[in-house]
Amino acid sequence: MTANINGFSKLSKHDKINWIAQTYFSDANDIVELIEQYWNTDEELQKLHDEFIENTITNFYLPFGVAPNFKINDRWYTIPMVIEESSVVAAASKAAKFWSERGGFKATVLGTEKIGQVHFIYKGDKDKLQSYIDSLQQTFLDDTLSITQNMQKRGGGISAIVLRDKTEDLANYYQLHVTFETKDSMGANFINSCLEQIAKTLKHGALSYSEFTEEEKEIDVVMSILSNYVPNCVVRAEVSCPIADLKGKDIADPQLFAEKFVQAVRIAEIEPFRAVTHNKGVMNGVDAVVVATGNDFRAIEAGVHAYASRDGQYRSLSHASIEDGVFRFWIDLPLALGTVGGLTSLHPMVKVALQMLQKPSAAELMQVIAVAGLAQNFAAVKSLTTTGIQQGHMKMHLMNILNQFKATDAERVKVVAHFEKHVVSHSAVVELLESLRK
Ligand code: MEV
Repeated sequence: MTANINGFSKLSKHDKINWIAQTYFSDANDIVELIEQYWNTDEELQKLHDEFIENTITNFYLPFGVAPNFKINDRWYTIPMVIEESSVVAAASKAAKFWSERGGFKATVLGTEKIGQVHFIYKGDKDKLQSYIDSLQQTFLDDTLSITQNMQKRGGGISAIVLRDKTEDLANYYQLHVTFETKDSMGANFINSCLEQIAKTLKHGALSYSEFTEEEKEIDVVMSILSNYVPNCVVRAEVSCPIADLKGKDIADPQLFAEKFVQAVRIAEIEPFRAVTHNKGVMNGVDAVVVATGNDFRAIEAGVHAYASRDGQYRSLSHASIEDGVFRFWIDLPLALGTVGGLTSLHPMVKVALQMLQKPSAAELMQVIAVAGLAQNFAAVKSLTTTGIQQGHMKMHLMNILNQFKATDAERVKVVAHFEKHVVSHSAVVELLESLRK
């Protein structure tokens, strides 16, 4: 059944739920009850969540887990992760422990530059346009001062405003390519406000620029918006150790392990089908921390994958090498993050996550998140090149299968004990449950 409705956003929350229940469900009463069960009993807390977006009808839970024992630049971290995939937190914790015994992770911020653009159409002489933009540089800064002054006090602001000629790709199309430093804020609102003011200055100034002809004065601003592609806001995370030190519980032959691992990463560097899945493994770690810390995971995803294709082919984000008997594994990730502003001061669990990370600066959070991505990638490629991925994955997925079949506590104990020694598969679990229930 389909239906449409006018004025839905003006209904009360309860009426919204009733409309949905009655329109799409035969068991409307049960659905209303279920949806309302997910409300927080603390009304103030619920109201806070209701007001994050429009038309909130309830909450949608995701597990908030933690991966302890991350040693990053010689400091210990417990990393908060919000994710639904069964094996991710366990894999992160395992990788953290593994590398904490081998020197820990190193992370370095390589740059923190953010970007925004004013896209406009100008029909006229290019040199005159360049002179006009040159003449406006101080006015751009003066006109944006009311927006930038607080940011300037924190050491940020507009770093450069450059004219880019894109007319070879699209007739009469130019950009003002603006670079920003936004310190501990992600800066989306700050950047967009600056850009909208810069666009106004650009357009209005042209009307009185005496060198322009009447047609040249008509600058047409198409849009002003930040870019989520931040190739100069990059952090590097890495691990390394002598090959012999890789020896461990599931690595009997460290030389063979290192060689196979490096080969697996090379495959992801040259083969896009593998690279996408390899990078998905990285993003399992990255997104989980991005969400836990109240950052915008869509922005991060968009920027990271663009970065992975920056030379024209989609490639692995991580790299590995063996040199002089040393195994090295590293990743460069473009991450535009904030630890102030946005959800960071609103969502109670985001506050918990940031406190757990010892109130990091945005640069420190970049380091932690890049490490979470590298750890996740290490865990995945290690499993793939040794035991295969399913062993660990299905072990964690076992709980989901048991929940699906509403296993009792007694059944759980027996099933878990059985699969300590046997390979988990959906059918094997069902078979065992059925035999226990006979
Ligand atoms: C699953 O969520 C992620 C992996 O597929 C990543 C990879 O293949 O490297 C295991």
